[in-house]
This record gives sequence, structure tokens and C-alpha cells, in this order.
Amino acid sequence: MTDVPTSVQSAADLARRIPKAELHIHIEGSLEPELIFALAQRNGVALTYSSVEALRAAYAFSDLQSFLDIYYAGASVLLHEADFFDMAWAYLQRAHADNVVHTEIFFDPQTHTARGVPMASVILGLKRACDRAQAELGLSSHLILCFLRHLSEEDAFATLEAAIPLREHFIGVGLDSSELGHPPEKFARVFARCRELGLHTVAHAGEEGPPEYIWQALDVLKAERIDHGVRCLEDAALVARLATSRIPLTVCPLSNLKLCVVSSLADHPMKRLLDAGLCATVNSDDPAYFGGYLNENFLQTVHALCLSAADVVQLARNSFEASFVSAERRAEMIRILEQTIVPHQS
Ligand code: HPA
Ligand code: ZN
Repeated sequence: MTDVPTSVQSAADLARRIPKAELHIHIEGSLEPELIFALAQRNGVALTYSSVEALRAAYAFSDLQSFLDIYYAGASVLLHEADFFDMAWAYLQRAHADNVVHTEIFFDPQTHTARGVPMASVILGLKRACDRAQAELGLSSHLILCFLRHLSEEDAFATLEAAIPLREHFIGVGLDSSELGHPPEKFARVFARCRELGLHTVAHAGEEGPPEYIWQALDVLKAERIDHGVRCLEDAALVARLATSRIPLTVCPLSNLKLCVVSSLADHPMKRLLDAGLCATVNSDDPAYFGGYLNENFLQTVHALCLSAADVVQLARNSFEASFVSAERRAEMIRILEQTIVPHQS
């Protein structure tokens, strides 16, 4: 067995311990197989898998689409407000255990409204869990409504319309699902309307799609953050644009590994993104499917790329810089980060 250098071990310990924000988590991707089976039983929903073990064994993906097929099947057990609450509350407790102090949670309403679930059941169930996390754990959170890009512009507009009565409960919109063949420009008018409503805008781009999709997310959708964005490294002008504008990338290392965006974590571009001066952050994407929550993403990335303690602190700082919080909350999170790094100064 090879020895792990002390510097890597201490960077990993630091990563585990410091406060962090998570900015790229699909709440439906936090549904653990045990909860899928419990909700299926509670709601009388039939599953094609006979056991938790059989379902987990199916989690071997070759690309984004092979994952999405199973992810949408898993979400079919969610019917009632209480189901959305239970799912989000389970995630928020896991996040708190990883020293996540703020999280911005994606949800996919079309996956549920298409099955007859009311928009209010989705949003109010998630919101109730967020309120409980604030009250009991001091963990702040925001909700971000994602449009499924494999569906039409018309469907996205109808979804936005259905969510407007609940506008106070979400701070922004995103774009997810099958990337290739569904460029950001398909949703130019929807995002323009969202910006008029004062919503923040983010978009998945450059996970499997080319750098051109990142350009479109920036220039057409006016996205304030890019989700994934790892393929930006293929375009030097794009890297320069992202660096000078400080547009954050919400990078998900274990997701990239499990969906074969990289062939091993040792090849992951995270260190190159940091060295290029980009505001890159670490996130879990769909932790129940990709083998780990936020700390596991940090730990495996630190080990695979020999990240330093300075890299780890930079990643945590970036997560606070990239979050959609008030200036006061940002300053508070940076303060607790600094107190954690240097615990005793008198
Ligand atoms: N990419 C696109 N859509 C998604 C993802 C992802 O990584 N996870 C859940 N929906
Ligand atoms: Zn994602």
C-alpha cells in the first residue's frame, strides 16, 4: 500500500471540517434507494426492481442519459407534499453532517407535474424542510427551479406560469437533463422572462456539451453560474471570459467520474480550473447515485489530484462567493471559515 503524503491527509481533514456551501445538488438525486422503497410502499407505487440491492446494482452508468433514465424512474415514487419534505429533510441532515452551512437546491418540477403532482406539493414540501433546517441546524438554503431541456419551450413556459404563485419560495431557475441536442438558446425567451421576474439564472452547460453551449448560456441566457462547465478548458477565450467575469463553475467530480465525463479522478480538470483562476466549486450533483455527498467529493478529489490545504480553502471561499446570499450572510460564512482554519488566536 502506498503512503498518503501528510500534506494530502491534512488537506483532506481540513476539507471535512471546514464550513462550505453546496450549489449544485438535484434534490431528486438525493433519494437513497432505501427511501425510494419506503415511499413506493407508502404510496402504492410499483417499482421494476425487487430490492434496494437490485436497484443499487443498476447504478452503473455509461453517460448522462443512462443515468437520467434511472433517476426519473426513482423520482416516480414522489407524490405528496410529505414525500418532498422527507426527501429534502434527509438531504439537509446529510449536508449538515458534512459541515455544509448553505445550500442551493435544484428541483425538477416537470418530472412531477407530468404525473399529476401539484406544483404546490413539490415546492411547499421542499420549503418546509428548508425552514426546518434553518431553525434546527442553522443551515440556510434556497430553491432553484430547473427546466428539463429535453422538453419544449412551451412546456417550460407552462411550468414557469404554474410556479409564479409560489414565486416567493424560489430564488432562481436552471436548466438540466439531456444536454446534447438541446442547446441553451432553445430557452432564450423563457430565461428572458425569468430575468424580468427578478429570478437568478444558472444553466448546466459543458458537461457533455461543447464549449459553444457555455458561450450560449452566458450570452443568450445570461447565466450567472455555469453548472459543470468542465469542457470550457477546450476553449482558451472562454476560460479567459469566465476568469475575468468571475462566473462560477459548480463542478461535480464524482458525477463526472460516474457519468464517464472523465475516465479517472486523477484526470479530473479541477486543479487545472483552479490554476486558471476560475471560481470553481465542489458539489455532489446527485449524491445518492454517484457515490457520495459533499465531503466524499472533496476527499476523493483531494486524494486523486493531491490538492493542497490552500486549494481546499480556496474551494470553500469560492462556494461562498458563488452563492446567491445577502452580503451579510456571505460575510458571516467567510468569518466562520476563517475561525475554523485558525481556531485559537488570543
Ligand atoms: N446533468 C444534467 N441533468 C441532470 C443532472 C446532470 O448532471 N443531474 C440531474 N439532472
Ligand atoms: Zn446537475
